[in-house]
Amino acid sequence: MLLVAGAVHVRSQSQKPPSRRGNVEIATFPSEWTYRHGAAAPSAVNGMVASNCVLATRAGVEILRSGGNAVDAAVAVGFALAVAYPEAGNLGGGGYAVLHMADGRTAALDYRETAPAASAPDMYVGPDGKPTDQSLVGHKASGVPGSVAGLLALLDKYGSMPRARVMAPAIRLARDGFKVDEILQRSVGENADLIRRFAGGPLFLPGGKPPAVGVRLVQPDLARTLEHIAAEGRDGFYRGPVADAIVAEMRRGGGLITGGDLAAYAPVWREPLAATYRGFGLLAMPPSSSGGVTVVETLNILETYGDVAPWNSALALHRLGSAFQRAFVDRNNSLGDPAFVAMPIDRMTSKAYARSLRAGIDDERATPTTALKAVGAEGTQTTNYCVVDRNGAAVGITTTINSLYGSGVWIPGGGFYMNDEMDDFTVQPGTPNQFGLVQGRANAIAPGKRMLSAMSPTIVLDPSGKVAMIVGGRGGPRIITAVVQAIVNAIDYRMSLADSLGAPRIHDQALPDVLEYEKGGVPADVVKALEGKGWHTKPGGTGSLTAIKRATIGGKTVWEGLFDPRKHGLAEGY
Ligand code: DON
Repeated sequence: MLLVAGAVHVRSQSQKPPSRRGNVEIATFPSEWTYRHGAAAPSAVNGMVASNCVLATRAGVEILRSGGNAVDAAVAVGFALAVAYPEAGNLGGGGYAVLHMADGRTAALDYRETAPAASAPDMYVGPDGKPTDQSLVGHKASGVPGSVAGLLALLDKYGSMPRARVMAPAIRLARDGFKVDEILQRSVGENADLIRRFAGGPLFLPGGKPPAVGVRLVQPDLARTLEHIAAEGRDGFYRGPVADAIVAEMRRGGGLITGGDLAAYAPVWREPLAATYRGFGLLAMPPSSSGGVTVVETLNILETYGDVAPWNSALALHRLGSAFQRAFVDRNNSLGDPAFVAMPIDRMTSKAYARSLRAGIDDERATPTTALKAVGAEGTQTTNYCVVDRNGAAVGITTTINSLYGSGVWIPGGGFYMNDEMDDFTVQPGTPNQFGLVQGRANAIAPGKRMLSAMSPTIVLDPSGKVAMIVGGRGGPRIITAVVQAIVNAIDYRMSLADSLGAPRIHDQALPDVLEYEKGGVPADVVKALEGKGWHTKPGGTGSLTAIKRATIGGKTVWEGLFDPRKHGLAEGY
């Protein structure tokens, strides 16, 4: 599928430069870089949906076209992802939503999974004192799913359409099936070893192999589950036959989730984390996700530099890496579920604290992570989607079952994969999790607690308060660093949406103490200069984003939408 059309660099979408940015040249990408500079993103006047799945984006556009608002469409996308994008779309996982409604109301919904009542802090440490793989694979890896309760809560409070209407595209896709494309075939093939260990094997690996491209994938169990939810609301999932199917599979495989855990699950409405960056507003996700706090702390540090160093220069990357490193030290040590731990969030996100951190950054020398102290420390798979409607209401949602196909456990009779989100807790202090994150006691396992996340759906407001950009992504901690760079590219370097997402990125999460860069994205002399400042560097990966941005093309305001060129998806509007 074509990501971008045309070769015209749309400069007219630049925001007015904030006063202290200086005169920044729009940089071109290094010649070795994979993606072309100056591409244009698809645009539309009335509304836009960007997701990692063609059929889910189309479900959202269908709802927008028929008069639904951004929340109606986002809920339709969420349920459609659960059918057509099983590697990450889900009923058996959780997520976060950030909203800016057309009338100015803002909200954030935390529908992260919770630890089952029978969980315990050291449940994934084996008799040899080492972590087992049970936080990642199999029945014990799952937290109590939040996605269904979350999507329905969003619809109840901010949607305008009946449940059955917004769920209709998903039910159709599950009941009538859809044609398997190359992306789904490859994804199933690459994860076949996990899938075949559990009950989803016969459906996703008929005859032991991924379905052929073009074959219709029909999911009758999932269609029935969706129909229960459409008819009965949250009780159609958290009680009755679907809940019974989850509990039966948990019992069969030694999992922890009980009927009581399911009945007790509740999403939590939170105030979005409100912040500013160089005169722009930010609405970000507060804990139990670390995403918002870490994004804001990083941007606050960067804002202390009145001058913007040239894009992709050693100085710019040094400052970016130094800011990430400090924000991640604080994240890893201090953050957790607010129902369980007290966190100095006001301080972490204050401009004064950013100035104090900046004072410790030497433009000539990198600081080893071991020399950094945490504030107030006690003394693959995920998918993001964005929607805007014709009235300018905006929704950013990131949802996940953690690894691709979650724990691998598929619920017979329910028709969906369960998450392996328990691995996002601190399984053992000091031991890295699957993303290499070394976390602290604030994120220790406790019954009913939400595991810390890095998911960072973020809405950027222009200086007049209008929605300017919605951005979020997948990639564990790499979500945070990717979201920051997309925002910095757009605001500091006035890049178009296509360039903001297509530009090469770096990643630093404090531990391991390494600054990673995308291969071909940072010129060799810049890497050398960073090494000269004391950074350990290595080529590495980044998150992948989906985003929507307000732009002016030919004097007309439009919404540009995009999925990351590193991944797949569809951005489409009308
Ligand atoms: O909540 C988190 O931070 C992780 N469970 C996200 C996992 C993820 O992004 C995997 N995708 N590549």
